[in-house]
Amino acid sequence: GGAAGRADHVIAIDQGTTSTRVIVFDRRAKAVASAQREHRQIFERPGWVGHDAIEIWRTTEALLREALGKARIAKDRIAGIGITNQRETTVVWDAATGEPIGDAIVWQDTRTQGIVDALAAEVDPATGQPYGTERLRAITGLPLASYFSAGKVRWMLDEIPGARERAERGELRFGTIDSWLVYNLTGGAEHGLHVTDVTNASRTQLCDLRTLDWSEEALDVFGIPRSMLPGIVSSSEQIGEVRGIAGLDGVPIAGILGDQQAATFGQAAFAPGSAKQTFGTGGFLIVNTGERPVFSQNGLLTTVAYRIGNASPVYALEGSVAVAGSLHHWLRDNLGLIRDSTEIEGLASSVPDTGGAYIVPAFSGLFAPRWQPDARGVIVGLTRFVTKAHLVRAASEACAFQTVEVIDAAAADTGEALDELRVDGGGSASDMMMQFQADLLGIDVVRPENLETTALGAAFAAGLATGVWSGTAELQGLVREGRRWTPRMAAADRARSLRLWGRAVERSLGWVD
Ligand code: G3P
Repeated sequence: GGAAGRADHVIAIDQGTTSTRVIVFDRRAKAVASAQREHRQIFERPGWVGHDAIEIWRTTEALLREALGKARIAKDRIAGIGITNQRETTVVWDAATGEPIGDAIVWQDTRTQGIVDALAAEVDPATGQPYGTERLRAITGLPLASYFSAGKVRWMLDEIPGARERAERGELRFGTIDSWLVYNLTGGAEHGLHVTDVTNASRTQLCDLRTLDWSEEALDVFGIPRSMLPGIVSSSEQIGEVRGIAGLDGVPIAGILGDQQAATFGQAAFAPGSAKQTFGTGGFLIVNTGERPVFSQNGLLTTVAYRIGNASPVYALEGSVAVAGSLHHWLRDNLGLIRDSTEIEGLASSVPDTGGAYIVPAFSGLFAPRWQPDARGVIVGLTRFVTKAHLVRAASEACAFQTVEVIDAAAADTGEALDELRVDGGGSASDMMMQFQADLLGIDVVRPENLETTALGAAFAAGLATGVWSGTAELQGLVREGRRWTPRMAAADRARSLRLWGRAVERSLGWVD
């Protein structure tokens, strides 16, 4: 009797762009133990962002041990593991040895711009016109851009000596970070599984959104052999078992979701029309559109939100903003303007406004809704009056301005305005920024009690597949509202702020020649 021996805990692995977290949740969705560590960002050249996939795997393994140690629960109390990950980031490894053939190419990396430009410039024999960036939109839901995985795989095949020949001989495997982790968790080169889930697949630009299988046409456009690709599984199902990891052997891996989809799941945004904005390294709006993919006319992406077991997949519109929290990291690491992220809130709220300064963080060009690869970052409106506090505030405000742009685009695509916005991620801890966000949007901004919705979403997916929770209705009851901000800015001030932001963005455009 009692709860002893009952598998009523779920482990979430959240492998993000800058750090990895492992959180153990109980069945009330309470985090009972967690561990976190950053990993190296490799900036070999301007525009390049790399990760060492081995370092990511070793870190994950160490964090699993650390979190389990802190949780002090026996293995039979763990129902399953859910994985969530930075999306698009591309790893290619040797099937025989499990060794990556080079650094992982991170989603923010722009080295593949030339590859996607060339694919857009090819002439469509049917029309005699260049295909343009919409070339694969109808199949994949995505415009041609350096963001997605396919161009990154192509780059490795073109640039790493011998890679194409090895790929054609069937010796190489491609995976996003979820695939890489599952492969290593299930035994690596020995007998590791090679899979990804529907949400991660939908970010590669190789997946047909309707069939949820790899698209021959997209593979052909990018010149990628099908043998490199993982099998596609649901977001919530029994995928495989951990092998070769002390303390976890035999535990099922039962959920995989890309991190933005996981945050949506962790906010219990299951109803069509519900939306969340996550402030992480980047900023990501997801609007649930139900069982119907909506193809954007306004610069958003169409993506898979999740698929539970054999149920119909649920789709979403997404507004991906490349730089949000990483702007604060840049102020800290590259400029030394602050020593620690904990200083941000105090500095930003020590001034009533930015003193006229605007920062447009177009470090990877501009993503949604503008898709301007030639943009680069600018700081404008500087006078002798502007202080460090104003610039730190301008960085926070930039996150909110970019969010307005993607929310406006979503309203234009769906024909429906949001009635409130759910927020999460590290940046949502800033009360100053959340008030400013509500002010700019003119709707309520709602933050849940638990800001770790990404990890929670992965736990939810794994817990559903292993019987910890009965269904989405039960999950809904586990997500509690933490705090709500109501707009209080005068309409004229809002209009003026947005107008000046628009002018600042114009100044960032067309910088690369
Ligand atoms: O598409 C990239 C996204 O998944 C990265 O998320 O939280 O690391 O900014 P984050």
